[in-house]
Amino acid sequence: MLEKVKEKFVEIFKDDKDTRCFFSPGRVNIIGEHIDYNGGYVMPCAIDKGTYFVIRLNHTNIVNAYSMQFENLGVISFDVFDENKTNQYSDFIKGVMKIFDIHLGFDMVCCGTIPHSSGLSSSASFCTGLGYALSSLNCNLVSHTALALACKRVENEFMGVNSGIMDQFIICNGKDEKALLLDCNTLKYEEIPFELEDNVLIIANTNKKRQLADSKYNERRAECEQVLTILHENGYTFKYLCDMDLKQMDEVMPLIKDEKLQRRLRHVVSENDRTIKASKALINHDINELGKCLTASHESLKNDYEVTGKELDTLVYSFLTQEGCVGARMTGAGFGGCAIAIYKKGFEEKAMAEVKKEYLEKIGYEPSFYQVKVYGGTREIK
Ligand code: GLA
Repeated sequence: MLEKVKEKFVEIFKDDKDTRCFFSPGRVNIIGEHIDYNGGYVMPCAIDKGTYFVIRLNHTNIVNAYSMQFENLGVISFDVFDENKTNQYSDFIKGVMKIFDIHLGFDMVCCGTIPHSSGLSSSASFCTGLGYALSSLNCNLVSHTALALACKRVENEFMGVNSGIMDQFIICNGKDEKALLLDCNTLKYEEIPFELEDNVLIIANTNKKRQLADSKYNERRAECEQVLTILHENGYTFKYLCDMDLKQMDEVMPLIKDEKLQRRLRHVVSENDRTIKASKALINHDINELGKCLTASHESLKNDYEVTGKELDTLVYSFLTQEGCVGARMTGAGFGGCAIAIYKKGFEEKAMAEVKKEYLEKIGYEPSFYQVKVYGGTREIK
């Protein structure tokens, strides 16, 4: 893929003098959904699908960007101080330049191998890769954590999505063949070997066109804040909902009068508990237990947090009814995007064929399947 991006660069910008190349992965979250912004534990992996960049400073005040995923847009050119949003991928470039306070002209060709809106973090992959590339070109590389926090600000402050830190953090800090158990409150993490023994991980994309996903995401976040406010009004001093364990949750539940908010709280606290259990299962090579945690996570996201929808539910329940399935759930923000499933080796091909058939019958179009490697974080490549 990098060679193709390099060729495109020469085709567009005539030569590749002084160019540098970067790769930034996407991510799949194994478990710990919608709790990063509640100070909980998450367990994502970086993957070998992501965004490739070929880039050089052009010593002008103009950015010239070309994305091989949006060839119809051609080269997009704008001033280094331009902050006008046009609802295109260039908005992310403008956001990165503003938040990183780097206003240098550059020529860039990029290509993403993660489909958009797939829930595998194509936007965080892009922002983090570009933030890393521009910082490198500006000879001012910051720590991985600082990079992740700055890229989160691009989403929150520039794009208006109130996302947590999980995506940017794993994309910066991913390790080959390791999941990270990340404490989103302290940003401390533990590397967990992602060894599934005699099992395989499958990722399936609903291919649903996501609509209103950002506003529904912000709505869930606001609901969690409402719960926290109620608890504060009643004298509790939790900083985050995930400061509570299941026992404390039962104790405070009667204070939450709204049934929907009760369910939101139950998802958050139980998901945090499941994530810790799942990490232990992975460490203990207990893949059946890991699978159970995954499936329970989906149920909670469906019934209590209400972020799944017909497409994701169809995929997950179809996965679960096939022979050899150890567990399955949606991954990422939800409302579409991807689901993951763990299968005993040897059963996956038949299962994918069945799931495809069933999904097509119920939804009217096919899902896509991906097999990925668990991979390292954002880096410069040759
Ligand atoms: C999106 C956000 C993350 C996280 C997940 C849900 O990917 O960017 O911060 O909240 O949704 O777990």
